[in-house]
Amino acid sequence: MMSLERTVRVASGARRKLTPVPYVRTGAHQAMADWSPDSWRTKPAAQQPVYRDDAEVSRVMQEISKLPPLVTSWEVGALKTQLAGAATGESFLLQGGDCAESFDHCDSSTIANKLKILLQMSLVLVHGSQKRVIRVGRFAGQYAKPRSDDYETRDGVSLPSYRGDLINRPPFTEADRTPDPELMLRGYERAALTLNFIRSLVSRGFVDPHRLEYWDLDWVKNSPMADEYRRMARTIGESLRFMENILGVHPGELQWIDFFTSHEGLHLPYEQAQTRRVPRQEGWWNLSTHFPWIGMRTADPEGAHVEYFRGVRNPIAVKIGGGMRPEALKQLVDILHPDNEPGRLTLIHRFGNESIERSLGPLLYAVRATGKTVLWCCDPMHGNTRMTADGIKTRHFGDILSELDQAFDIHAAHGSHLGGIHIELTGEDVTECVGGARGLNETDLTRAYQSQLDPRLNYEQAIEIALFAARKMSKLNGRHGPQQV
Ligand code: PEP
Ligand code: CO
Repeated sequence: MMSLERTVRVASGARRKLTPVPYVRTGAHQAMADWSPDSWRTKPAAQQPVYRDDAEVSRVMQEISKLPPLVTSWEVGALKTQLAGAATGESFLLQGGDCAESFDHCDSSTIANKLKILLQMSLVLVHGSQKRVIRVGRFAGQYAKPRSDDYETRDGVSLPSYRGDLINRPPFTEADRTPDPELMLRGYERAALTLNFIRSLVSRGFVDPHRLEYWDLDWVKNSPMADEYRRMARTIGESLRFMENILGVHPGELQWIDFFTSHEGLHLPYEQAQTRRVPRQEGWWNLSTHFPWIGMRTADPEGAHVEYFRGVRNPIAVKIGGGMRPEALKQLVDILHPDNEPGRLTLIHRFGNESIERSLGPLLYAVRATGKTVLWCCDPMHGNTRMTADGIKTRHFGDILSELDQAFDIHAAHGSHLGGIHIELTGEDVTECVGGARGLNETDLTRAYQSQLDPRLNYEQAIEIALFAARKMSKLNGRHGPQQV
C-alpha cells in the first residue's frame, strides 16, 4: 500500500510530519473508532489562517470548549429528519443569508430583517410547492471565508487577505489583517447573541402566520410584486382559519415555525472547539450550528475538512462546482455518507448559468451509481459572479434565475428532483446584484453596496426568486396556483 505519510502545513502554520489515519469503510460507529475531533490535523488543511502564537490558539479553543453549546443535539436531529423529507421530495429546503456576517452588523434590525425575508420567501414557497419548507439561515456563525489568495497587495505592500471576522479584520493595516485567535471567542459570542434574538423572535408572535403584517418589510408597500405577495398572504390566512375551524385548533396551541442555522465549516479550530459528546447519544456533534457545510474549495476527499466532517453526526452539505469530477464526488459520498442515513448529506451545486447544463447531469449519474439518497440543492449565486468594467463584483439577476430554472428542469429530466435553494441575501435595501423587477443597472451598484465579499440579493430580488421558484414548482407539479395569474 502506498504510504500516506507526508509533511503538511497544519492550521497553526507549523510544518509537521504526520501519518493520516486510515478510513475504515464500515458502519458509522465502527468507522468512528479511527476518528477524533482533531484527526483533521493529520490531513492537509486548505484555507486556514497562519497564527503567530499556537499556544494562544489552544487557549482560546479550550475556553470555547467549556462554554455552553450554541445548539442542541435534539434540534440537530430534528433538522436531519426534516432534510430526509426534502431528499425524498416531501418538503423543500430554503437556505439563505449573508455571504459573510460581520460582527459590526450584529444588531436587531439586520437580524430581524433577515429573518423576515426568509419567512416571507418560505411562505411564498409553501404556497407554490404545497410542501413543508425547511428554513435554514446562513447566520449565527457565517464568519469565515475562503479566499483565492493568501495575500492582498496594495501599492507594493502585501498583507494577509481578509478571511472573515472570525479570523482578522477588513482594514488594510498590519494590525487588522494579522489573524487574531481571540476573534474566535468574539465569533462564538456574536453567534450566541444572534441566536438568542432569533430564538425569542421565533418563539413569540413574530412568526405567527396569523400576523403576517409583522413580517412585512417596508418595501411591500411599493414593490411591483407587492400585490402578488399580499394576495398570497390573504389566501394563506383564510386557509389557516378554515383549517383551524375544522380541526378546532387555535393560535397559540401550535408550534408554527422551526428555524435552523448553518455556516460554512471552514475554520477547523473553531469547529473542533465546539465538537462535543452528548449524554445518552452516540458519537460526536458539532454544536456550533445545526447544519454546517463544506465549501467548494475545501471539498477535497483527501483533505482535512472532509476528515473532520465525516465524524460528526450533524446533517452536512457540500458545495460542488464545475471542477468536481464524478469519481471524486462518488468518493465524497462514500466517505461522508457511508450508511445512507436519511437526511445526512446535501449536495449544493453551483455551476453558473452557462455551465449547469453540461455539468450537472454527469454528477447526478455518479451519485445515482452510489445507490445513496442525497438532498440536491441549487446555489444559483456563486457560479454567476462577474466583475463590472469598474472592478465591482456583481451578479446578474437574469443569470441567477436562469441557473435556477435550468436546475429544476435538469433534475426533472434525469428522474431526480431539486429539493432546495441556497442563496445569498439580505433584508436591507442594498444594490449589489443587477437586474430584477426594479431593473437595477451597473450605475446603481455604487448607491448602496455594503458587502465586504460577495454581492447579495436585496429583499425585493430575494422575494422575486421565491415567487419564481414557487411558480416553477407549481408548474412542475401540474398545478396552477393563484400566484400564476
Ligand atoms: C459561499 O457560500 O459564500 C462560498 C464561498 O461558496 P462556494 O464554496 O460555493 O464558493
Ligand atoms: Co459567497
